[in-house]
Amino acid sequence: MSEELGPDLYSPRAVEHFTDPRNVGAVADPDGKGSDVNPSCGDRTTITLRIGDGHVAEARFRTFGCAAAIASASALTELVVGRTAEEARALEPADLIATLGGLPARKEGCALMAVGALRAALVDAQVRAGARP
Ligand code: FES
Repeated sequence: MSEELGPDLYSPRAVEHFTDPRNVGAVADPDGKGSDVNPSCGDRTTITLRIGDGHVAEARFRTFGCAAAIASASALTELVVGRTAEEARALEPADLIATLGGLPARKEGCALMAVGALRAALVDAQVRAGARP
């Protein structure tokens, strides 16, 4: 959490992402698809990916979650495009929260859910690629 924001305030960057979310929806015929649930509330985020030449070429999300979940998934889809699968796997919730300019501490699990969905999608992409002839 950003100290300047106070316990319940969202940064301008987070507000921008949840009022104008990027990459909403699902990639058609994705190379990877993954979901994660926030155990504290039961909400769910799903991320779909298109991978090309070992890089994330497209990322889209759907979430049944709060404003922080929307902002987190939106920012994460922007953050991940252009990265190698390995670089994408290495992204930590703290990286995402920093990109958003912080989140209220009680909302950090919502960002964790987005990262969990991304990691599940990357594992799925790896499995699918390995299964191809
Ligand atoms: Fe449920 Fe944020 S995802 S409270």
